[in-house]
Amino acid sequence: MDNRPIGVYDSGFGGLSVWRELRRMLPNESLIYLGDGKNCPYGGRSREEITAFATEAVERLVTEGVKMVVVGCNTATTAAVAHLRERWSDMPIVGLEPAVKPACLSSRTRRIAVLATEHSLQSEMFLATALRYAGDVEVVKVVGEGFVELVERGAEHSAEAEAAVRKVVEPLLGMDIDKIVLGCTHYPFLRPLIEGVIGDRGIAVIDSGEAVARRVKWLLERYDIGAEEGNVAKYRFVSFANEEYRQRLEHRAMMIAEEIK
Ligand code: DGL
Repeated sequence: MDNRPIGVYDSGFGGLSVWRELRRMLPNESLIYLGDGKNCPYGGRSREEITAFATEAVERLVTEGVKMVVVGCNTATTAAVAHLRERWSDMPIVGLEPAVKPACLSSRTRRIAVLATEHSLQSEMFLATALRYAGDVEVVKVVGEGFVELVERGAEHSAEAEAAVRKVVEPLLGMDIDKIVLGCTHYPFLRPLIEGVIGDRGIAVIDSGEAVARRVKWLLERYDIGAEEGNVAKYRFVSFANEEYRQRLEHRAMMIAEEIK
C-alpha cells in the first residue's frame, strides 16, 4: 500500500483527458498534474527540446514525491519516454500511444485515420507501432492543425474550433475510413465537434485515455503500490507557466470532476 500521489504530465491542458480517466477509475489515488504551459505546444518541436522539457517535468514531479508518472502526452511519449525510463529506472513511467492497435483490429474497411501532432506522426515510435499492428490496414496520418492551441485557449466550443475541426475531418469522410484515432491528448476535448462533423457515417472515434488508466491500475496492483481503500484522494496542479495558467488548469479539472460525478 502506498498513498503517495501519481504524477500526470502534459505540455498543457491535454493530459486532463487522461486525468479524467484516472480519477474515474482510481478514486482513491491522489494525483499531481503538471501542465507545462510555458513551452506548449510541443507538436512542432525537436526531439531534443521535448526530451529536455519532459525531463524537467519528471524531476519536478519526483520532487513532489510521486510514486509513478503518467506521461499524458503522446508527443512527449514518442520523444522522451525511453530516456525517462532509463533515468528513473526504479519508478514506473507510463507513456501514451495512439490506439492504433484496437483501431486496426476492429476496422472493417481496412482503412483508419490517426490524428496527432506533427512530431508524433513522424516519430520512430509511431512508425514502429503502425508497422507492428497495421497489417493490411491503411493508416492515414493527419495533423490536427490548430487543435492544441484552441484547447489551450479554452476555445473548444467556439465557431473557430468548429471550422478548424471541419477542415481536418471533412476530407476524411469520403475515404472509406471507419475509425478515427485521437493520437493527441488535447484532441478528446474536441470530440463533440469531431463527432458532429462525422454525423451518422458510422465512423468510430477512439482515444487512449481509458486504456492508459487500465494500465496504471494494473501496475499499481502488480507492484503493490495502490493507495489504501479508505484513502481520501488529493488533487494538485502545478505548471511551468504563470499562476493564472495553473489556476485555469485547476478550474478546468474541477469542471471535469463535476462532469464525471
Ligand atoms: N497533448 C500532447 C499530445 O498528446 C501534445 C500537444 C502539443 O503540445 O503539441 O500529443
